[in-house]
Formats: sequence, structure tokens, C-alpha cells
Amino acid sequence: MRYRRCVAASLAVLGVSVGAVGCGFNRPSGITEADRTGPYREAVQLYLNGCNSCHGDNLEGGVGPSLAKVGDRLTEAELVRRIADGGGPMPAYGPDGQGILTPAQIQLLASWLATKK
Ligand code: HEC
Repeated sequence: MRYRRCVAASLAVLGVSVGAVGCGFNRPSGITEADRTGPYREAVQLYLNGCNSCHGDNLEGGVGPSLAKVGDRLTEAELVRRIADGGGPMPAYGPDGQGILTPAQIQLLASWLATKK
């Protein structure tokens, strides 16, 4: 059920724009209270403004892979590249792609996701 809503949400994202579409409820891990209120709060807002439709409201994954431990796999620089360049159904958010996010916003998202270990 939840998965189907995620698929529908991502199709909508592909067709229209990056909307704030949620697919599920918050769980204790993933996005923490400190994330929401601390220095990365703007990154969390950016994330919940579109990335969540594919990667889950709590980084748990859906159409896209889970990002709950992505800092174990990718460095901050790799994260920047991944977000800027996209891949498969994921939009290329950077200026050389669809320019959905500014380089500063991409950097902030990457810095935050790099803490997810
Ligand atoms: C339309 C669905 C979709 C959206 C929206 C989306 N992604 Fe993705 N993302 C994917 C898919 C699918 C992959 C895997 C692609 C591949 O392997 O080529 C992916 C891969 C990634 C990866 C690499 C993960 C890994 O373990 O290698 C990162 C990091 C990532 N996305 C971050 C983001 C961020 C941050 C946003 C929002 C700015 C975002 N994504 C928005 C679908 C999406």
C-alpha cells in the first residue's frame, strides 16, 4: 500500500515538479529531531520537498535506495555529484542538469547526508 503510494508520488514528481509528497510516517531512526532543528534543518526541508517521494520520509527508501546509511557508502563529494547528476529516474538537480537546486543547496544536502552512518 505504502509502496504503491510512493510509486504514484514519484510518477507525479517526474511529470510535474518536485512536490512535497509523503509516503509514510516518521520512525525513530533516519531523520532525527536534531536534524530537524539543528544546523541541517534547511537540508531536511529540501529533502522533504521532493527527495522523500523516492527515498522515503525517513530515508528508508522506496523507488530510490535507502539513504539511512548513505554516509557509509559515499563521501560528501560523491554525494554532491550524485545529487547534481541524478541517475535513472532521479532528476539531475545541479546547474548542468535540470537546475532544480542551487549548488549551495546541493552542498548542504550532501553535508547532511554524509552524517548518515
Ligand atoms: C524520482 C525519484 C527520485 C527522486 C525525486 C530523488 N531520487 Fe535519489 N535516487 C533515485 C534512484 C532510483 C536512485 C538510484 C539510481 C541509480 O542507481 O542509478 C537514486 C540514488 C540516489 C543517491 C545514491 C544512493 C546510493 O546509495 O548510491 C543519492 C545520494 C540520492 N539519490 C539522493 C537524492 C536526493 C538528495 C534527492 C533530492 C534532492 C533525490 N535523491 C531525489 C530516485 C530519486
